[in-house]
Amino acid sequence: MEKLLITGGTKLNGVVRASGAKNAALPILAATLLTKELITIKNLPHLHDITTMLELLGSMGCGVSLDEKMSVQLDVSTLNNCEAPYELVKTMRASILVLGPLVSHFGKAVVSLPGGCAIGSRPVDLHLRGLEAMGAKISVDSGDIVASVDGRLKGARIFFDKVTVTGTENLLMAATLADGQTILENAAREPEVVDLAECLIAMGAKITGHGTDTITIDGVEALHGTSYPVMPDRIETGTFLVAAAITGGKVKVIDTDVKSLESVLAKLEEAGAKVSTGENWIEVDMEGRRPKAVNISTAPYPAFPTDMQAQFVALNSVAEGVGRVIENIFENRFMHVDEMLRMGADIEVTGNTAIIRGCEALKGAPVMATDLRASASLVLSALVAEGETKIDRIYHIDRGYECIEEKFGSLGAKISRVLN
Ligand code: EPZ
Repeated sequence: MEKLLITGGTKLNGVVRASGAKNAALPILAATLLTKELITIKNLPHLHDITTMLELLGSMGCGVSLDEKMSVQLDVSTLNNCEAPYELVKTMRASILVLGPLVSHFGKAVVSLPGGCAIGSRPVDLHLRGLEAMGAKISVDSGDIVASVDGRLKGARIFFDKVTVTGTENLLMAATLADGQTILENAAREPEVVDLAECLIAMGAKITGHGTDTITIDGVEALHGTSYPVMPDRIETGTFLVAAAITGGKVKVIDTDVKSLESVLAKLEEAGAKVSTGENWIEVDMEGRRPKAVNISTAPYPAFPTDMQAQFVALNSVAEGVGRVIENIFENRFMHVDEMLRMGADIEVTGNTAIIRGCEALKGAPVMATDLRASASLVLSALVAEGETKIDRIYHIDRGYECIEEKFGSLGAKISRVLN
């Protein structure tokens, strides 16, 4: 089983390029199911989850041709089944994103019901209720969601009880080919939702209000092909900026999206970092200082993103002072804490709140990754810890961070992938 071996103590310094955003690429790849014309998606990150989504589309009979620059051309005209089997869905919950496009374009879908995952039960009731409101017949039969509609889905007004990113994306995609107008209220405003909407518009969809909490879609008869580049990954960007702050170094992330990280940049400045930005780059310079503790409360965009919560728990664990982190989105997203305690962190979790008393130094230790962003926070902790840290179960990391050891290595980190 591969592990990451990290020796802490180096101030990171250098420039790194942001990869394409995993959480924009996944819905955009699903959206290719909405047209029978050739469609090219560019700037895909080279990640396990992307490979899984391409495998899923291939298993439905779609033609998938990937070039060396991680651009993929998809041919959905050869699709011969509308099924997303358990063995693929169990490895990637985002497979649920093929449900809306399949029902809307082909009138049927059988998608294995995603189970829970490490960070929470992650129900999809809002996805299903929205499709029913649009006229789909939905049943759950021995672990599979079976959805169908006679003719086209119908436009509907849908109010989300909770802000759901993939729920908004699923229904946004389904509505593009529905008969009539759909209004999504209390919709997710995440930049990845906006990127999906822009790709759908490039395919001929009629969408307004994306990026706000009310999205209006006027259904069309058909969508056409396009060539669309996925936006840069804001969470990967934020992770590298926190790496500069936690090690007292200076890191510039290029080819990234500056405006989608306001809440994170504000917190980095509060922690004492010097933040500068340009048209498509962000730089954090900690000037050798120890970070100051900050309080975080996660919430839907544009508030502080839950996907950056674990990284700031790591930052607070070596900061001056006491930081409070409240996780409002998922019910079990503090699993990185137990692993950090092994490294000497002083953290107390009560319910959805972690109180972190910053300590002078963490100590390297063998630790275990539990979910994607938790594993990134263990890398950050190891970069600043004294001595050696070995991180196990790093397949979690490979799902969301492209070439993580090469990228951190290029910034001066002592990091390598070992076999045991
Ligand atoms: C997306 O997950 C992201 N994944 C997650 O990133 C991210 O953490 C999350 O949004 C929140 O920003 C992708 O985009 C592929 P939600 P998603 O539906 O859509 C509840 C990562 O690290 N809910 O916005 O599954 C749900 O339980 C991953 O890259 C329902 O109750 O999250 C949660 O409490 C992790 N019923 C809240 O809403 C539903 O039908 C927000 O979940 C749907 C959601």
